[in-house]
Amino acid sequence: MIVFFFFFFFSFCFFFFFNDTATTEIYTLSLHDALPISIAFLFTSQVQAGGQVEVLHWWTSGGEAKAVKALKEEFEANGGKWIDSPVAGGGGDTAMTALRVRVMAGNPPTAVQLKGPSIKEWAAEGLLGNLNVVAKAENWDAILPPLLKDVVTYEGDYVGVPVNIHRVDWIWANPKVLAKVGANMPTTWDEFNAVADKLQAAGITPLAHGGQPWQDATVFEVVALGIGGPDFFQKALIDLDDAALRGPTMVKVFDQMRRMRGYVDPNFPGRDWNLATAMVMKGQAAFQIMGDWAKGEFLAAGQVPGQDFLCAAAPGGGYLLNSDSFVMFDVKGDENLQGQRLLAKLILGENFQKTFNLYKGSIPARLGVPMDEFDMCAKKSSADLTATIKAGTLRPSMAHEMAVSRTFRGAIMDVVTAHFNSDMSSQEAVKRLADAVATAR
Ligand code: BGC
Repeated sequence: MIVFFFFFFFSFCFFFFFNDTATTEIYTLSLHDALPISIAFLFTSQVQAGGQVEVLHWWTSGGEAKAVKALKEEFEANGGKWIDSPVAGGGGDTAMTALRVRVMAGNPPTAVQLKGPSIKEWAAEGLLGNLNVVAKAENWDAILPPLLKDVVTYEGDYVGVPVNIHRVDWIWANPKVLAKVGANMPTTWDEFNAVADKLQAAGITPLAHGGQPWQDATVFEVVALGIGGPDFFQKALIDLDDAALRGPTMVKVFDQMRRMRGYVDPNFPGRDWNLATAMVMKGQAAFQIMGDWAKGEFLAAGQVPGQDFLCAAAPGGGYLLNSDSFVMFDVKGDENLQGQRLLAKLILGENFQKTFNLYKGSIPARLGVPMDEFDMCAKKSSADLTATIKAGTLRPSMAHEMAVSRTFRGAIMDVVTAHFNSDMSSQEAVKRLADAVATAR
């Protein structure tokens, strides 16, 4: 309001000053001319210098909220206007439903958290903005690891920008709870079962878990990598090979899933993943199998790795990769375009890559960001990532939408969840799994 009066006043002064003095004809304005100019000033002053973005994401837990706040603050500090559109629900399934509704209504958000093959699918629909201009100016070809570049490009064009690298195959533990039964972090699945049996006998819940399909699928894929190894994982959950899906190794995977079901507390159905993390924090359970966004929760609660909580790669070797990216929907308006470009640029900036990932529990997507301020779990993730890339044992996460399209992921998750919540035999589960994938083809 004050701004409006200022410009209104300014128009009148402008008009009377130049009219009265009539210094030169060129500067002589009528009230009729001056008013539109002042109004134009007014509106230009309201357009954000850095443009605006509406950001659809699913980062609503304690650690996630801190991380996304860092992005918002950096965007605003650079003159942008941030419109927050969070859609709660771990793993992003609810957010993806919300996105489809918005797109069908012809009103997509300008910036959207998206992952894996979905990025190319949306790009193939012709709905994503091209980020080549920013990519060229910021030299993304040189600062992005090839595997992430592949995720965010479509037919040679940049259509997304990666934020981070999350590892999925982690086991988190409460050391005080383990000490109660004289146990250490397990290094094989047999050891895991032995420790879990001991904990259970001592009246302690071995595994904190939330019964939601994506969480069941997270445990399932970690067990599949651990028991079958990276080659089996590739065949079964990436190539969707029928023989691997129906074979004896998959039976063993479901056998282990049955044991896992026995290690969770009765209140697990529907529980959010961060509440499961809180159970480990508070000593109400010993372990959680979850990606390193769980570490963001421990850190947000002031806990220290190696002291208050432990992190270890789940038994079996390999590395399950999950990486969050943002895509910019192809929307009209300079202000939107400006905002999208600013956001894309900041996301891969060195400063943001450090700040955001320190909160988020992940490691930088950008090459060459110094790791010295990161904790021991992040350093392990970074070292194991390099080692598994070299060894050819890095695999994209199926549960977190990095490996197969949502149709196949959905078919797999349905069977995994149905098995987890019933007394279905492992033989029946593999049959249903292979059939569900065949039907989805
Ligand atoms: C995302 C993470 C997120 C987690 C829990 C994962 O799929 O990649 O960024 O923290 O889901 O919502």
